[in-house]
Amino acid sequence: MMERTLVIVKPDGVQRALVGEIIKRFEARGLRIAGMKLMRIPRETAERHYAEHKGKSFYESTVAYITSAPVVVMCLEGPDAVAAVRATMGATNPLSAPPGSIRGDLGLSIARNLVHGADKPETAVRELALYFTADELISYERSGDKWLTE
Ligand code: TYD
Ligand code: MG
Repeated sequence: MMERTLVIVKPDGVQRALVGEIIKRFEARGLRIAGMKLMRIPRETAERHYAEHKGKSFYESTVAYITSAPVVVMCLEGPDAVAAVRATMGATNPLSAPPGSIRGDLGLSIARNLVHGADKPETAVRELALYFTADELISYERSGDKWLTE
C-alpha cells in the first residue's frame, strides 16, 4: 500500500551533522523523497505538531527543543511508508531502540532522539499538511522502484 509520511531530522541531528547519515538509511531502504526542506519550525507549528502531548511533563521542553535550531523536514513515500519509517527509527527512547535503528545506533537520550516520524497514516496526513503545501510534494518514479516490490 503506497503511503506518504512525515519525517523530521531534529535539531540535534542537524547540529551533529547526521542529516546525511539519517536520510541515507531511509533512502537505502527504498523510501522515495517526495519533499524536503531545511527550516526553523515556528512555535505555533510545533504546538500543533505536539498537540497530543499538551499538559504532559515533557511537552514544554519538547516544543522548546524542536524550535531551538533548524531541522530538515521530509515527505517520504513508499509501500507502508509509515511503518517502515517507524521501524527504521527505533523506539522513542534510544536506550530501548535496537542496534541497527537510527535511534539505537546514534542516540542516548529520549529528549534528543534525532528523528521524528508520523506514528499512523492519519497522523502522517495531518503532519504533512503542517509542513508542506501540495505543490511542494512531487510525484515521480525512479528507475529502480520496480525492483523494490514484486
Ligand atoms: P512520542 O510521540 O511519545 O514519541 P515519538 O517521537 O517516538 O512518536 O513523544 C514525542 C517526543 O517527545 C519524543 O520524540 C521525545 C519527547 N519525549 C520526551 O522528551 N520524554 C518522554 O518521556 C516522551 C514520552 C517523549
Ligand atoms: Mg509521536
